[in-house]
Amino acid sequence: MWKYGFKCVIILTTNGTTNILEIEVYIMRRKLIAGNWKMNMTPSQAVKLVNELKPHVDNKDVDVLFCVPAIDIIPVINEVKDTDIEVGAENVFYEEKGAYTGELSPEMLVDAGVKYVIIGHSERRQYFNEDDDIINKKLKKVVEHDLIPILCCGETLEQREDGVTLDFIRKQINNAFKNIPSEKAINCVIAYEPIWAIGTGKVATTEQAQEVCCAIRGFIKDIYGSLVADQIRILYGGSVSAANASALFVQPDIDGGLVGGASLKPEFAQIVNYLKEE
Ligand code: 13P
Repeated sequence: MWKYGFKCVIILTTNGTTNILEIEVYIMRRKLIAGNWKMNMTPSQAVKLVNELKPHVDNKDVDVLFCVPAIDIIPVINEVKDTDIEVGAENVFYEEKGAYTGELSPEMLVDAGVKYVIIGHSERRQYFNEDDDIINKKLKKVVEHDLIPILCCGETLEQREDGVTLDFIRKQINNAFKNIPSEKAINCVIAYEPIWAIGTGKVATTEQAQEVCCAIRGFIKDIYGSLVADQIRILYGGSVSAANASALFVQPDIDGGLVGGASLKPEFAQIVNYLKEE
């Protein structure tokens, strides 16, 4: 997930004693390029799409993930089993098991081979009334099962215009991470998805995306300190395309993307290979 580096500068002083002047341990966060298929692709369509994309996105330089509808999870996992591609779910429930018709538990996802799960997407907040409390319960439950949550946050156009973007997102982050221990938080992924940029073709500028992702890293630092803040991966999502991916992903605080519409097309391969396209 991360690459570790180590730098040590040793200075020999004039009186003959050796002093270590500088020691620096640094962590390079690996990029994660995740597709969010949303409510698209029947199982047979899913198998076809994965087979078309597979040879082009099985990339050693970045982590590649398909987050797919529940019914596509098993067939997609079967198709990618000989590759480094991971499969994620788009939703999960926060109870272990029981009379919750229609829901999937973390244990079911883990047993199926799922590694990641999207939590708190704005579409679930908007259409399924998921609030910060539900999102916190889901986050707590999935980290207990060592699933990696991709926690989504982001402001509406109105909030951006009112200048309350960062206050709003700080609240979303603080509420989501309530009672999540740091050893679990460090493995979480956060996706900044401005609602006004989702499915609209209206991408945030690289400056806007970097500014908010950097602020999110700061909010995590305030809760957990620098070690967690330096390692946690923060993605940008909202109209990511082959045309804008590399400008976004080279930003210092943007560790990849959560891609909607373009993840259903051959364009996803260009996004995954953004480094080679340069
Ligand atoms: P689009 O890439 O289609 O704008 O969707 C973004 C998104 O919601 C990913 O979760």
